[in-house]
Amino acid sequence: MRSHRHSVILLLLVCLLASSALAAPMHPVHAPHAMVASVHELASRAGIEMMQAGGNAIDAAVATGFALAVVHPQAGNIGGGGFMLIRMADSTTHFIDFREKAPAAATANMYLDSSGNVIENASLVGYKAIGVPGSVAGLAYALKTYGKLALPQVMAPAIKLARDGYPLAWEDAEDLRDNDLAKFPESRRIFQRNGSYFQQGEILRQPELARTLERIAKNPDEFYHGLMAREIATAVQKGGGLITADDLAQYAVKERKPIRGTYREYDVISAPPPSSGGIALIEALNILEGYELAKFGNRSAEAVHLTAEAFRRAFFDRAEFLGDPDFATIPVAQLIGKRYAAGWRETIDPAHASTSKDLQRPAVFNELERYARTHAPTTTIREPENTTHYSVVDGSGNAVAVTTTLNDTLGSRVTLEGLGFLLNDEMDDFSSKQGVPNAYGLIQGPANAIGPGKRPLSAMTPTVVLKDGKLFLVLGSPGGPTIITTVANILMGVVDFGLDIQESVNAPRFHHQWLPDELRLEAGMSPDTVKLLQNKGHKIQMEHSWGDGECIAVDPKTSERLGASDGRNNGKPVGF
Ligand code: GLY
Repeated sequence: MRSHRHSVILLLLVCLLASSALAAPMHPVHAPHAMVASVHELASRAGIEMMQAGGNAIDAAVATGFALAVVHPQAGNIGGGGFMLIRMADSTTHFIDFREKAPAAATANMYLDSSGNVIENASLVGYKAIGVPGSVAGLAYALKTYGKLALPQVMAPAIKLARDGYPLAWEDAEDLRDNDLAKFPESRRIFQRNGSYFQQGEILRQPELARTLERIAKNPDEFYHGLMAREIATAVQKGGGLITADDLAQYAVKERKPIRGTYREYDVISAPPPSSGGIALIEALNILEGYELAKFGNRSAEAVHLTAEAFRRAFFDRAEFLGDPDFATIPVAQLIGKRYAAGWRETIDPAHASTSKDLQRPAVFNELERYARTHAPTTTIREPENTTHYSVVDGSGNAVAVTTTLNDTLGSRVTLEGLGFLLNDEMDDFSSKQGVPNAYGLIQGPANAIGPGKRPLSAMTPTVVLKDGKLFLVLGSPGGPTIITTVANILMGVVDFGLDIQESVNAPRFHHQWLPDELRLEAGMSPDTVKLLQNKGHKIQMEHSWGDGECIAVDPKTSERLGASDGRNNGKPVGF
């Protein structure tokens, strides 16, 4: 994903260029039965193939997930982790946490030098940045527990794509020209042809990955307990990383209770910790429920201002309270409570932007304040804006939302010899050091300090929305911290402003994350609106674009599946 910062001086130019810069589809893809929306058409097709063969949405999601590991090596993965939210047609919900874990030898200060300074790139590039991957365990668990088809059948499209290859899009070829990738000989050989870079339209074949996928299809447990586990551990340690065979053997998928809230007359089901996504999303929506946003108009200065103020407050709490729930007590009920949101609402001035550093929690919520005071000063973390999301709805109305990641584009850039897949740099999602602003300015509490066996805090926000108790929206996006606000933007576009799902995915996004105290706006926001927001006191940061909404709506009247892939990228929903 490419995100380009532009100076405020370029504001007018950016706004003028906006309509041509984002060549977005105008309408959702319509299908009577089933739909998969993902960043790559071939991955969407892999999922559809499963449903046409009698599989359900979970079979399709697992097929799409493995296919993305082949055709979207930037973020699709078997060497990373993610979250799968399932909402079955019988109304049951399941949340599968297959987030990476810190190795047992990880320590709080492992990315600091002897003077206590963060070692540049240590948590981002190379073997030490790798967390214990969860994707293979997560996808295999989902299939075994909720799917209908066998793993070899579901993985067949991915294996074929790896063996036979697929043509690279221009953006994919560009992403593979990555300087850090060139630092690792196996990555350079496979993805950069030893410096003879792939061009648009050329075929990328991955025979080592095909063999690895075949081994996983026969026995996914080999990744964690068998020969493959030993191969992974040996290769990572040879490169200076910490992962041992025991770390892999100890890895466990967790089923967690999804976060649930309501927004106006809709039910919102989303990701619980170790994601911050569901809590921050529902907290912001709870604050916004007190305003008649529709009367201000879509992307009006009033609506953007109030929404940004809600985001500011939700991210303030995210910074303080969120981390791995197996290691920290998180006051979830208070944070997603309507009373707490009403308290926050009273602190919002409709005419003026708040100042992030002066934000005070509503006084009535002593319990949260007491909790906050027991914490040490805040810590900081850089959060890369990559990842990938895919959504699935099957013919029976089962829905799956999966967000999965290597963290950065192409993760740690490490490909293990003979195995053919990229490993994550998810260790960077922990806070490496207390009190130092990172590249993205995000601040987090000690709940997200590095610890052995701990899962790093995530922003991934796979989300399902119900209308009158029936499946209505399946949502998600990549984008680091902007994931949460992108999902909110898309949800509110449909719910508050009556956009269809494609219009809502297309609409210019805005993002506030408390610190840095700036309102990020995508190109395409009206210059008049930008001026009005500046007049309210917002410090504006114009950017080209971010995120990749891969979403599905179900038409309440016709039950049609409406797939929306983001024009900001090359995704394509496929339905039948
Ligand atoms: N690494 C991106 C996320 O988990 O939010």
